[in-house]
Amino acid sequence: MDKILSVFCVLLLFLYPSSALPLCTDLRAPTTPKSNLAFCPYNGKSCCNPSEDLELQKRFQAMNISDSTCASAVKSILCATCDPFSAELFKVKSEPRPVPILCNSTAGAPLSSLSDNDFCSTTWNSCQNVMILNSPFAPSLQSKAQVPQNASISKLTDLWQSKSDFCNAFGGVTDEISICFNGEPVSLNETNTLPPTKGVCLEKIGNGSYLNMVAHPDGSNRAFFSNQAGKIWLATIPDQDSGEVMGIDESSPFVDLTDQVHLDTSFGMMGMAFHPDFANNGRFFASYNCDKEKSPGCGGICACNSDVGCDPSQLGSLDSGPHCKYQTIVSEFTANGTASNPSLAETAKPLEVRRIFTMGLPFGANHGGQILFGPDDGYLYIMMGDGGSKGDPYNFAQNKKSLLGKIIRVDVDFIPREEEIVKLGLWGNYSIPQDNPYSEDKELGLEIWALGLRNPWRCSFDSERPSYFLCADVGQDQYEEQTPGGNTSANSIDSILPILGYSHSEINKLGSAAISGGYFYRAKTDPCTYGSYLYGDLYANHIWAASETPQDSGNFSTTDIPFSCAPSSPIRCSSVPNSNLPALEYIFSFGEDNRKDVFILTQSGVYRVVRPSRCGGGGPSPASVGGGFPSPASCRLRSWFGGLGLVGVGLLWVCGCGLELGEAGMFSVVGLGLDLGFRWSSTAVA
Ligand SMILES: *[C@@H]1O[C@H](CO)[C@@H](O)[C@H](O)[C@H]1NC(C)=O
Ligand SMILES: *[C@@H]1O[C@H](CO)[C@@H](O)[C@H](O)[C@H]1NC(C)=O
Ligand SMILES: *[C@@H]1O[C@H](CO)[C@@H](O)[C@H](O)[C@H]1NC(C)=O
Ligand SMILES: *[C@@H]1O[C@H](CO)[C@@H](O)[C@H](O)[C@H]1NC(C)=O
Ligand SMILES: *[C@@H]1O[C@H](CO)[C@@H](O)[C@H](O)[C@H]1NC(C)=O
Ligand SMILES: *[C@@H]1O[C@H](CO)[C@@H](O)[C@H](O)[C@H]1NC(C)=O
Ligand SMILES: *[C@@H]1O[C@H](CO)[C@@H](O)[C@H](O)[C@H]1NC(C)=O
Ligand SMILES: *[C@@H]1O[C@H](CO)[C@@H](O)[C@H](O)[C@H]1NC(C)=O
Ligand SMILES: *[C@@H]1O[C@H](CO)[C@@H](O)[C@H](O)[C@H]1NC(C)=O
Repeated sequence: MDKILSVFCVLLLFLYPSSALPLCTDLRAPTTPKSNLAFCPYNGKSCCNPSEDLELQKRFQAMNISDSTCASAVKSILCATCDPFSAELFKVKSEPRPVPILCNSTAGAPLSSLSDNDFCSTTWNSCQNVMILNSPFAPSLQSKAQVPQNASISKLTDLWQSKSDFCNAFGGVTDEISICFNGEPVSLNETNTLPPTKGVCLEKIGNGSYLNMVAHPDGSNRAFFSNQAGKIWLATIPDQDSGEVMGIDESSPFVDLTDQVHLDTSFGMMGMAFHPDFANNGRFFASYNCDKEKSPGCGGICACNSDVGCDPSQLGSLDSGPHCKYQTIVSEFTANGTASNPSLAETAKPLEVRRIFTMGLPFGANHGGQILFGPDDGYLYIMMGDGGSKGDPYNFAQNKKSLLGKIIRVDVDFIPREEEIVKLGLWGNYSIPQDNPYSEDKELGLEIWALGLRNPWRCSFDSERPSYFLCADVGQDQYEEQTPGGNTSANSIDSILPILGYSHSEINKLGSAAISGGYFYRAKTDPCTYGSYLYGDLYANHIWAASETPQDSGNFSTTDIPFSCAPSSPIRCSSVPNSNLPALEYIFSFGEDNRKDVFILTQSGVYRVVRPSRCGGGGPSPASVGGGFPSPASCRLRSWFGGLGLVGVGLLWVCGCGLELGEAGMFSVVGLGLDLGFRWSSTAVA
């Protein structure tokens, strides 16, 4: 173990020094246009859309450059605004430039491989005597990124005395703090280079306290919010910078299921999911607990039964009352019939259309309950905790037959006939995806997709990489070592360490801590946070950002990041006493809307991550958490040393997580699932 860990510690230390963040001159993250650009040679991610590309083409043609070598150099220079790293090439954080920094003579430069051509000389040599209409190289344009107003025709030698004059103005080299343009698209490995965010700026857009947020599947600016008691609301999400609050009317819920739901500290409506085709079929699902003594239809098979080696009569005082009194249920509802089409529906009837899943709970806690649809496979994922009771006394989480302590994956689009359901011993109306892991390991329950969880509290797919499924699993103060998790391939059962974690003692101030899983931040709003996985802790008023280096490696480092509330927040944030840190109170969960903006659902309200400049980017950080708060432009590069500092923090973390097993007390962990099979880890520590 020592060996493996020291290997990746070293890798982290030798991070590629010139790691740049892709960022456009307008401080947005580059995007992939629907079709390739016709003029500029940027396919895939770029900072131009087709109409900007067309503008560049017109501008280029208007220059009327007769010499083809010069024309091609000028074309590449114009097109550099489309480069995914254009913010850096045009140095947007200092004065704006009309042309990118052209790679200059590089003799002796430390990173000569990156600026391996003297593009500034090339440009001078090929264009010095060529007439250019509205030349971008006019000295008057230096430090004014504009097209000249007056048509003027000039050659470089009219504008500059010599090559050295010219290159003094436009040249530069690639070093650890900047990159230069060599006539080709920048070839930095973006994949290696997403630096962790240094903080997030929040605004408060709602006062309500919710457990779940799910974007409306029709792609609109609406989202569903639900609370633990069993109500779901349909809300509109205001545009960023609109200064508006979210549109929600608590007195008219979308649906009210409180009659069916048993509510108590760790019981209630834990999850909701909307069918990917909800806009057409109106199907939605709720996951909640019920009390079989109070609700008819609440009875199901107890999770403690002879198939899993559990004797219900032995549950004794650990049981949550009469045998499996409380149940976990997933029910299907419909928004049909309340509007001309389901997408327009603003309410739904609380009438169960179909029972998807029912299972009796042996103990009174840890029953997860989040549900969501896989973005690629359309299957319903149900997160189940180990059922509670300290230390999982029956080791349900590792029991290959029990559905406790598992992620369950079922198909709700194809419902088998009742005989088939009985024959297969299913827990409700669903069918089994053929590639569930049981297909490789016959000992596994048919529904099981991942095992070994204690209480998964919020899992999410990375919207840009649906094979990335991150789950936060709440830790406990006493927990046995876990045996390995599984894989879709039975031959390669393999365990990995949790990818992230923190010791409760680090943050413990209320005597308790519980991780709340979040999202990979994929919005364009805050380019500095793009690609970081944000998560929090229920009690701690802390937010972490995890970054993966290199990308797709599963090697994560994590940083406790500062956050503050924008002075322009539509609803004023209250602060932690004696600090300017917003008082979030309990962080219940995170949400993501259709724009991929990330929301934090807390006891005190709904917060949205906004662009850093709204928190006065560049200014001092909130005093209590330390670390600089970035301005958008400063997120581009981590210099050699800045980078090391940050990684160092995460590094101790990652290493500590593995090395100090048994010493550090309790951990909350996040596991990583790759490949839509599972590569699961849920080590927890005593
Ligand atoms: C473009 O250049 C050619 C000579 O290369 C010249 O004949 C023509 O008038 C120019 N067009 C414009 C619009 O200046
Ligand atoms: C355009 O040309 C006119 C006359 O040559 C001059 O007075 C004016 O200042 C020029 N405008 C710009 C923006 O250069
Ligand atoms: C570019 O190189 C020339 C020599 O070829 C040098 O005089 C000039 O200072 C350099 N400019 C920059 C900005 O590095
Ligand atoms: C970019 O990544 C590839 C593999 O993905 C690697 O071979 C190459 O060395 C990397 N280049 C740089 C400049 O890091
Ligand atoms: C939220 O609560 C604050 C403080 O109680 C109040 O001033 C504000 O009007 C509320 N805003 C909304 C949108 O309900
Ligand atoms: C809702 O309407 C859609 C489209 O008309 C239909 O396919 C679906 O079966 C309906 N669902 C229910 C529960 O009636
Ligand atoms: C299937 O759904 C129907 C309708 O809700 C319900 O009566 C039945 O019990 C369900 N089957 C199972 C196995 O849950
Ligand atoms: C899971 O199984 C696949 C197929 O055998 C294998 O390629 C992959 O490396 C395995 N992953 C882990 C984490 O064991
Ligand atoms: C971390 O990355 C290295 C290579 O970058 C790789 O060999 C190792 O398996 C990774 N560890 C995990 C847990 O993915």
